[in-house]
Amino acid sequence: VHRSLLFVPGDSERKIAKAASFGADILIFDLEDSVAAKNKEAGRAVTREALTQDFGARKYVRVNGLDTGLTDGDLDAVMDNPPETIILPKCASLADIQLLSDKLTSRERERGLAIGTITVLPVATESAVALRNLMRSDWAHPRLTGLMWGAEDISADIGAFVNREDGEYTGVFKLARDVCFLAAREAGVLAIDTPFVNFKDEAACRAECEASYRAGFDGKVAIHPSQVAIINEAFTPNADQIDWAHRVIEALSGGESGVAVLDGQMLDMPHQRNAERILAAAGSSN
Ligand code: COA
Ligand code: MG
Repeated sequence: VHRSLLFVPGDSERKIAKAASFGADILIFDLEDSVAAKNKEAGRAVTREALTQDFGARKYVRVNGLDTGLTDGDLDAVMDNPPETIILPKCASLADIQLLSDKLTSRERERGLAIGTITVLPVATESAVALRNLMRSDWAHPRLTGLMWGAEDISADIGAFVNREDGEYTGVFKLARDVCFLAAREAGVLAIDTPFVNFKDEAACRAECEASYRAGFDGKVAIHPSQVAIINEAFTPNADQIDWAHRVIEALSGGESGVAVLDGQMLDMPHQRNAERILAAAGSSN
C-alpha cells in the first residue's frame, strides 16, 4: 500500500530513530531540501546507515536534483542497501527521468543487480517548464512507479507569493495538481498528493486528505508524524464505501444487462471498476 509517505530529514538520527513508530507505509529519507548545504555529506552517511535498518515500511530516498551536482554522490551513498525508489525533485521532463535511469543502470550493473530494480518517482511540477512539459508529453517510463506534485518550489519558480487564497489552492496550483494526477493516470502509475504544510491544523489536513482520496489520488505525503494516521485513515475505504462497493458488485452481477439501479442511481461498468478498486484497497490495508 502507498497511502502515507513520511518525509524524514536524512541527516536526523533522532527523527530516523522514531520513524518506524508512526505507521507510515513509506518512509522517504530526504537528502534534498530538509538537509542544510553544510550537512549534505553527513546526511548521506546517516541515510546510508538508516537503509541497513528494518522500519516495517518501504524505504525511499529523495536525492538532490540533477542540476545540483550532488545526485551522483547521493546515489553512490545509498547503493549498498538500495532503497526501493528514488524520489527525483525538480524533475522537468521525461529526459530527466531517463538521465536518472541511466545513472541507476550503471550502478545496478556494477553491483550485479537486475536492471530496473530501483524505481523512480519524480516530483513533476516544481517549475513552469516541468508543468508545461507534463502537459505536453507522456512521461511513461519503465522505471516510473508514480508522480508526485509539489506546490512550494513552483511558487518560487514562477514568482507567486501564495499558493492558496482562503484555504483553497489558486489557479496554477490547482492546475499542477490536476495535470500531475492525469499524467500519472495516463502513465499507469501512482498519483501522490503534495503535503499539507500547515501541519498543526489537523482538521484541515483531514479534510484535504479525504478530498484527495475522493478525487482519486493513491496517497499523500506527510511532513509531520501526526499526519500519518490521518492520511492512512483517509486513504483506506471506510465501512460505507465498502458496503456500497459490495452492493454495486451484487447489483451488477445478477442480470443479463450491463446496467442496474442502486439507491435510485444508474450503475454500469465505471461503477463496477470503482467498486473493485475500493474492495482491492480494503483487502490490502487490513
Ligand atoms: N520524521 C520522524 N520523526 C519526526 C518527524 C519526521 N518527519 N518530524 C518530527 N519528528 C519527531 C520529532 O523529533 C519529535 O520527537 P522528539 O521530541 O523526541 O524529538 C516528535 O516527532 C514531535 O515533533 P514536533 O516537535 O511536533 O516537530 P518539530 O518541531 O520537531 O519538527 C518539522 C517539525 C516540520 C521540522 C518536522 O516535522 C520535520 O522535520 N518534518 C519533515 C520535513 C521534511 O523532510 N521536509 C522535506 C519535504 S517537504
Ligand atoms: Mg522542495
